[in-house]
Amino acid sequence: MPVEIEKIISLSKRRGFIFQSSEIYGGLASCWDYGPLGVELKQNIKHAWWREMVYLRDDVFGLDAAILMHPKVWEASGHTTSFSDPFLTCRDCNKYYRQDSLEIKDNTCPSCGKPFSNQVTRANLMLETQLGPLKETALNVYLRPETAQGIFVNFANILVTKHPKLPFGIAQIGKAFRNEITTGNFTFRTREFEQMELEYFVPPDEDEKYYEYWINQRLNWYIKLGIKKENLRLRAHSKEELAHYAKACTDIEYNFPFGWMELEGIANRKDFDLCQHTQFSGVELTYFDDQKRVRFYPYIIEPSGGVDRALLAFLIDAYREEKVKGEKRVVLGLDRRLAPFKVAVLPLLSNRSEIVEMAKKIFLELRQNFVTVYDDTASIGRLYRRQDEIGTVYCVTVDVQSLEDKKVTVRDRDTMLQERIGLDNLQEYLQVKLNLC
Ligand code: GAP
Repeated sequence: MPVEIEKIISLSKRRGFIFQSSEIYGGLASCWDYGPLGVELKQNIKHAWWREMVYLRDDVFGLDAAILMHPKVWEASGHTTSFSDPFLTCRDCNKYYRQDSLEIKDNTCPSCGKPFSNQVTRANLMLETQLGPLKETALNVYLRPETAQGIFVNFANILVTKHPKLPFGIAQIGKAFRNEITTGNFTFRTREFEQMELEYFVPPDEDEKYYEYWINQRLNWYIKLGIKKENLRLRAHSKEELAHYAKACTDIEYNFPFGWMELEGIANRKDFDLCQHTQFSGVELTYFDDQKRVRFYPYIIEPSGGVDRALLAFLIDAYREEKVKGEKRVVLGLDRRLAPFKVAVLPLLSNRSEIVEMAKKIFLELRQNFVTVYDDTASIGRLYRRQDEIGTVYCVTVDVQSLEDKKVTVRDRDTMLQERIGLDNLQEYLQVKLNLC
C-alpha cells in the first residue's frame, strides 16, 4: 500500500522539502517552493539524469535554451492550435473540471451535484506574456509549455558545432509552464514545473528499435535509483490518445497514492518537428548522410520526464515507518545518490566542549567531500530519528571514547548497524560506502 499523500505533504513542510508558494499571502494555487532539503533532492535528481543521459554517453549533447521563444515556434509546433484540454464549467457554482476528470460522474458537477448544462469548452494551456514596455507595441510571447521546442530549433546549431552522426541526442533540463485546468495532488500537476527531456535523432527506418531502447533505458533509470519495480508499469497510448505529432507513445506510470499516473512519457515524434520548423522558418532542418549520400529528416524519439513528478515519486517510494524497540521510526530510504545529506556529524554529549570541538572539526573536514550536516541540539536518539526522517545516509557520532581512541561511531541509516572507525580512515570509509559520482 502506498503511503497516504498527507504524510508526504506533512513531512515535506515540517522538514523543509516543499512549501506552498507565497504561503504568507494564502498561497498560489498549484505553485510550490522547494526548501533547503527539497532543493538538494531536486539537484541530485537532475544530476543523476544528466550523468546518465549526457556524461556517460558519447552521442548526447547538452543544451540550455531560453524559456521565451519566438511566437512562430508555437505555431509550427501546433501548440497555438492544438495544445488545449476540454473542460466543463458548472453554471450553478462556477467550478470547472477537465472533461476527463475521474471526479465527474453522470455528467454532474462534483462540487454542487447539479447536472452540467453547458457544452464542453477547450482552453489553450499556454501562459502568455508581453515583451517590451509599451502595451501597443509589445510582442505577445508564451512561457514555453515544454523544453523540447528549444531543442528542435537548435538542431542545426548542434549539427554545425558538434558534427554528430546519427543516432545522436540533445538533452535539456528546464522550467516549463502550463495553465492547467485541474491541478492538485500536491506537486503532481502544477502550473510551473521542470522537465528533463531528450530528443534523440535516428534514421527513420530505425525508429522502432530506438523507441523500445529508450523505454527500457528510462524504466531502468528509476529502478536503479531505488523505485520499487512493482510500483512502476508501462502503458502504451491508444491511437485515439496519441498527440498530434506522435506515431507511438508509452508512459512510465508510478503507483501514486492517488492512483497509477504518468511519471514520464517516451514518444516517437517521427519527423514532425523538424519538418514543421523547416516549413515555418524557411531553414532546412535535415541531416546529410555522407556515406549514403542522402539528405533526409531524422525521426525523433523523445523520453520526457518531469523533475517535480520524479521527486514526488522518489519521496513516496522511499518513505517507510518501522517499529524499533516499541517506538515508531520514520525513514526516508532514498538512494544514497539522491539523499539531500550524505553524512550527519553528531556529538553524543553537547555539554562536553572537547567532544563538541572534535565533532565540529570532523564536520568541517567531511563537508569538503560530502554534503554534511552538524547537529547537537537534542539527545542522540532524537538526532538519529531526525536524520532518518530526511534520509541522511550515515551518522557519525563522537563520544567520550573518541577523545582517547580517535575513533567515531558510524551508523548506517537502513540497517542501523554501527561501526567504530578510526579518524584516519573515516574519509576513505565513507567514500567507499557512499560511492558517489
Ligand atoms: N515534450 C513532450 C511533453 O512535454 P508531456 O507528457 O506533456 O510531454 C512530459 O510532459 C512530462 O512532463 C510528464 O511525464 C510529466 O512528468 C511532466 N509534466 C507535464 N505536465 C506537468 C505538470 N503540469 N506538472 C508537473 N509535471 C508535468
